[in-house]
Amino acid sequence: MLPFPAHSAAVRGRCGDSMEVFLRVENNVIVAARFLPHGCLHTTACGSALTSLIVGATLEQAGDVGPKQVEAVLGGLPVEHRHCAALAVTALRAVLINHYQERRSPWKKLYPPPDGPG
Ligand code: FES
Repeated sequence: MLPFPAHSAAVRGRCGDSMEVFLRVENNVIVAARFLPHGCLHTTACGSALTSLIVGATLEQAGDVGPKQVEAVLGGLPVEHRHCAALAVTALRAVLINHYQERRSPWKKLYPPPDGPG
């Protein structure tokens, strides 16, 4: 979804919906974010809201984003779909963890992902 080197993580919720989030980070700032939803319309809306919140944010600011902020961007969610915002935030936190783990092991950047760059 984003050219190499980018970070990604996919998570699946208890409802069966899933979301993958991709980040490009430069100088501790998220310069690009994409998401790939597999689920309901609300999941897609939450992914879009999430990316609008985090592009331009530092990693620390992105780590503070919570489901309520995602929901606020959308003007609220039906009670039965509030977990869609939590799914988006869980995916964000997973990709941030991946980023920090890769930063601690910079030698891994010497190797492209299994399916190649780009
Ligand atoms: Fe479960 Fe949207 S219905 S994440």
